[in-house]
Amino acid sequence: MSLLIIGGTGTLGRQVVLQALTKGYQVRCLVRNFRKASFLKEWGAELVYGDLTRPETIPPCLKGITAIIDASTSRANELESLKKVDWEGKLSLIEASKIANIQHFIFFSAQNVEQFDNIPLMKVKNGIEIQLKESGIPYTIFRLSGFYQGLIEQYAIPILENLPIWVTNENTYISYMDTQDIAKFCLRSLQIPQTKNQTFFLSGSKGWLSSEIINLCEQLAGQQAKVQRVPLFILTLVSRFFGFFEWGQNISDRLAFAEILTAENTFSKSTSDLYKMFKIDPLELIQLDDYFLEYFIRLLKRLRDINFEDVQKQKNLII
Ligand SMILES: NC(=O)c1ccc[n+]([C@@H]2O[C@H](COP(=O)([O-])OP(=O)(O)OC[C@H]3O[C@@H](n4cnc5c(N)ncnc54)[C@H](OP(=O)(O)O)[C@@H]3O)[C@@H](O)[C@H]2O)c1
Repeated sequence: MSLLIIGGTGTLGRQVVLQALTKGYQVRCLVRNFRKASFLKEWGAELVYGDLTRPETIPPCLKGITAIIDASTSRANELESLKKVDWEGKLSLIEASKIANIQHFIFFSAQNVEQFDNIPLMKVKNGIEIQLKESGIPYTIFRLSGFYQGLIEQYAIPILENLPIWVTNENTYISYMDTQDIAKFCLRSLQIPQTKNQTFFLSGSKGWLSSEIINLCEQLAGQQAKVQRVPLFILTLVSRFFGFFEWGQNISDRLAFAEILTAENTFSKSTSDLYKMFKIDPLELIQLDDYFLEYFIRLLKRLRDINFEDVQKQKNLII
């Protein structure tokens, strides 16, 4: 089976590429910038130029491909790319996949997309889910919650830099996941035919409140957090008033997007059937406390190394 991975330079996409290569798949990555993607080539992937906003670049990338894993999404710093990448680009990709007779198309969506018509990203994800289902291409949709990786910027760094942490006043349990584990589900689905033409709500085995994550980071950092609470209804109003782009860039950078999506707290429901189907033991998953512990250990080691280098430099200057 030959795979085309789109979004291979992204947080989730790179884990998918790495695991696919480790499992022996032939991996081609559609990338916009060869220099930025050079690490994927070093890992063993083939790079092809493609840009979802340039539909003519897509069909050549699909030659000889049996399955597509689409982990791409618009970058928040690229103005107006939401419509061009996540809507028009994906429509072109689906069209080209139909023509190329793709046997499996894996798409990453978000939890509760149909409930947030007022948030353009959610509306677009929902629309693409519908288009993919209607395309006749065998598909698997994973509806995801937040990633552990996003929590570093949201919680750990502000605590370390003594900056405010913005949270909503909702007591919502969110079952975040490590992107390595999401990649594991994604690759397993290529081997399990029953996962075709299905939508899965993927979430971790434990739900976390933002206050619990803050406590954990405070303990690990040995520092107190400055917590700023924003009521959820204010966020909703702001998003309606300013539209997605302003809202997406200015506020969601500081607030977990997932918190807005999980206003109805559906994340903590049992996912045991899902784990059974994918033959994945929940105990295998990376736990959030272990993830943070490793992050802080690595960070402290780096700080020690930098201090050591500084002392050496000072000594050299004195000599
Ligand atoms: N992050 C979350 O918490 C979260 C939650 C729910 C669902 N998801 C979904 O999970 C998937 C992966 O998200 P992520 O956070 O890993 O994404 P990410 O880190 O932001 O990466 C986005 C990827 O898309 C690529 N891309 C952007 N514009 C493109 C274009 N015009 N043509 C081709 N490629 C393009 C980027 O390439 P460049 O390197 O060239 O920019 C990058 O590889 C997405 O579908 C996202 O919506 C994420």
